Amino acid sequence: MTTYLQPIIKPEAVHTIRIRCFNRETDAKPHWQVYSVPYVRSMTVIQALEHLWDQNTYIAFRANCREMTCGSCAMLINGKPQLACMTLLENESKVEPLSQYPVLRDLIVDTSSVEQKYRDLKLWPERQRGAQMGSVSSDVLEAYQQTYSRCIECHCCLESCPQSDAETTQFDGPMFMLQMARIGSHPLDTENRSLQAIKRGAFSCVNCYECAAVCPVDLNAAEEIGRLRGSALRRTFSVFFRRLLGRHSAAQ
Ligand code: FES
Repeated sequence: MTTYLQPIIKPEAVHTIRIRCFNRETDAKPHWQVYSVPYVRSMTVIQALEHLWDQNTYIAFRANCREMTCGSCAMLINGKPQLACMTLLENESKVEPLSQYPVLRDLIVDTSSVEQKYRDLKLWPERQRGAQMGSVSSDVLEAYQQTYSRCIECHCCLESCPQSDAETTQFDGPMFMLQMARIGSHPLDTENRSLQAIKRGAFSCVNCYECAAVCPVDLNAAEEIGRLRGSALRRTFSVFFRRLLGRHSAAQ
């Protein structure tokens, strides 16, 4: 790890940071540890954790890109799910792992249940046999890329959602709903993603917009859930009326 403090930058103050630590090999349960960190202006939580690492205080955390691209550094900072690489360090900050997943070590959680769910839900475009990407115009593909592909899968929205829980299957939660909306907008996808969203609990969303409030890339999953629900209802009504009209004309 590189030291974040350049020799010419003088720390302005000392901040304390409270971290929820857990080492399954040595600890019976998680516990809070308080550390002091020399603070410089615009210092982020990830930089504070790196500083501790440089001081031989080995708090385990993930941070692959440090520029809001990979989503790996999501954690609870002062009770709110946030990316540690973009959250400024405040004095007496409280830092803990995401609460919906088993803790592997300190701030690292096991998200394998999420990966399994991606596979179960087949969150990739289901193409018709023989359909080729080459048949889709570049404008359409670009529009697709621009819409939901910005999701960095940091899990902040899942953590903030009062209705979703990684362990339950009642409502898969905003991140998955967003992915269903994304794949559903793919020009070659043949699955009925709005129906899939309904089956996976889209009507459990209570429109609190917490997911949109915490999203670091400004995606609005709640709005997408509303669109998926609307589209499913429209499809259902149109099938219902078509059948009704069919019966009516058969009776004449
Ligand atoms: S380290 Fe990649 S998003 Fe924070």
